Amino acid sequence: MITNNLLLDVQDLRVTFKTPDGDVTAVNNLTFSLNAGETLGIVGESGSGKSQTAFALMGLLADNGRISGSAKFNGEEILNLPESQLNRLRAEQIAMIFQDPMTSLNPYMKISEQLMEVLMLHKGMDRNTAFEEAVRMLDAVKMPEARKRMNMYPHEFSGGMRQRVMIAMALLCRPKLLIADEPTTALDVTVQAQIMTLLNELKTEFNTAIIMITHDLGVVAGICDNVLVMYAGRTMEYGTAEQIFYTPSHPYSMGLIKAVPRLDEQGEELLTIPGNPPNLLHLPSGCPFQPRCLKATQNCLKTPNLDRLPDQRLRACFISAEELIRGNA
Ligand SMILES: Nc1ncnc2c1ncn2[C@@H]1O[C@H](COP(=O)(O)OP(=O)(O)OP(=O)(O)O)[C@@H](O)[C@H]1O
Ligand SMILES: [Mg+2]
Repeated sequence: MITNNLLLDVQDLRVTFKTPDGDVTAVNNLTFSLNAGETLGIVGESGSGKSQTAFALMGLLADNGRISGSAKFNGEEILNLPESQLNRLRAEQIAMIFQDPMTSLNPYMKISEQLMEVLMLHKGMDRNTAFEEAVRMLDAVKMPEARKRMNMYPHEFSGGMRQRVMIAMALLCRPKLLIADEPTTALDVTVQAQIMTLLNELKTEFNTAIIMITHDLGVVAGICDNVLVMYAGRTMEYGTAEQIFYTPSHPYSMGLIKAVPRLDEQGEELLTIPGNPPNLLHLPSGCPFQPRCLKATQNCLKTPNLDRLPDQRLRACFISAEELIRGNA
């Protein structure tokens, strides 16, 4: 792995929430890294800790959350930063887009004002320069008739167009890292694909690294360099996108892949993984996936280490990787 353009280096990230029923560990010793301009997919079912991982990095955890571990951005620690430094980091270095664009857009302000405000505040631009730059960015996200639409309010846009406004807003300050938390789940399939293509193009144009969070492996298939598969707050498998898609070596990754609709296998039944993710207050012993895993043995009542396979990927599972990969071929 090239380390000289290492952008984000996360080590043993742990997020624990205090609740009336006990402590809940939503993110459990997560380690991953991202080079400048790279895309990492974080994939897992609902409740696996994807959003809390992003929130921890952005300093957006709920009040009952505690963070430990380390996250270095350009060599500097960003976990538990004071609010003033966090604000600067969020405005200028790391941007985040959410599932529902309405959570980040002000419904009562024209989008021109919302986009210009960011540029005037963080880049010190005057109104005219900010206006032109905002139009340019709307053009970059392929907003048709960008200049005309500057006068519109968020509710006047379709869902897909609103998401484009959000992406434009996120990229205004040219962040080095964009965290996209399920940015397309609220959209229909065609629009989803358009937004993914757009993000992929923008990543090249602006050299922005992206963390793409999703429960749908199919969504990230075309755009990720690396993929981290999470379950119950832990890493199940972490490797290149090619490794995870073509030769998954963890029963959970395999289950997620079988749930992806494939164009070449139309009509074939989609297989969802039977059962549900565990309640974090009552985790099963050993591997958290063990109660749903068809391959599980007695061994799996112990907790597997995250081991490195000969092809460099990481994997937490007792079943032999060769056996799983062969069985899947
Ligand atoms: N403030 C909180 N207090 C207690 N538990 C919390 C709190 N916030 C989140 N959690 C728990 O943390 C776990 C991980 O949540 P997270 O939102 O990261 O999941 P996710 O992978 O993003 O799921 P989804 O795909 O549904 O968005 C969940 O079990 C959730 O209930
Ligand atoms: Mg989430």
